[in-house]
Amino acid sequence: MKFFIDTANLEQIKEAQDLGILDGVTTNPSLMAKEGITGRDNILKHYVAICNIVDGDVSAEVIATDYEGMVREGEELAGLHEQIVVKVPMIKDGIKAIKYFTDQGIRTNCTLVFSSGQALLAAKAGATYVSPFIGRLDDISTDGLNLIAEIRMIYDNYGFDTEILAASVRHTMHVIDCAKLGADVMTGPLSSILGLLKHPLTDIGLAQFLADYKKGN
Ligand code: G3P
Repeated sequence: MKFFIDTANLEQIKEAQDLGILDGVTTNPSLMAKEGITGRDNILKHYVAICNIVDGDVSAEVIATDYEGMVREGEELAGLHEQIVVKVPMIKDGIKAIKYFTDQGIRTNCTLVFSSGQALLAAKAGATYVSPFIGRLDDISTDGLNLIAEIRMIYDNYGFDTEILAASVRHTMHVIDCAKLGADVMTGPLSSILGLLKHPLTDIGLAQFLADYKKGN
């Protein structure tokens, strides 16, 4: 399972990278705005800065919603750095754009996916990643994890190569549940990854080992 961090915060990206378990970064316009990164030039520079910190894939989202605009922006984003994956929204022109990028050898992440039918279309268009937003489904009393299970079954039925990137992961149990269901990738906040470290018996056991060592030395 690949671990991506879902942020545009360079400090958090560095912290996750330093752990040695980071496989990539996802961003979106909201996450950029949260870090105060505004204006096209600054946003493009920020993508390059992220690529220079991490070894893996960095999703960079198009803003255009028409086919020609998405193609133009996506080509510019892909040209920024070899690690860039062009993030395209799940709309009709987005599917056309994903097919175009696939044919050009440009990797894509189909975002804002909330149903298995949308995920099927993304795979048919050749998306590298599909991003079902599990937290936002949970927010409206719909089981986000069930969507991961459905997409896993559909992709396995036909051997689609598109990787299931569980997005809108909010906490550590989401990470574990996505792993159980066979999601290829998860993207979430740093806290969702660091939460995997925690167990009180680890802390108690370590304190005991150190105390016993001190008794004899
Ligand atoms: O990767 C998608 C993500 O950024 C959305 O997360 O927490 O805003 O639903 P959230």
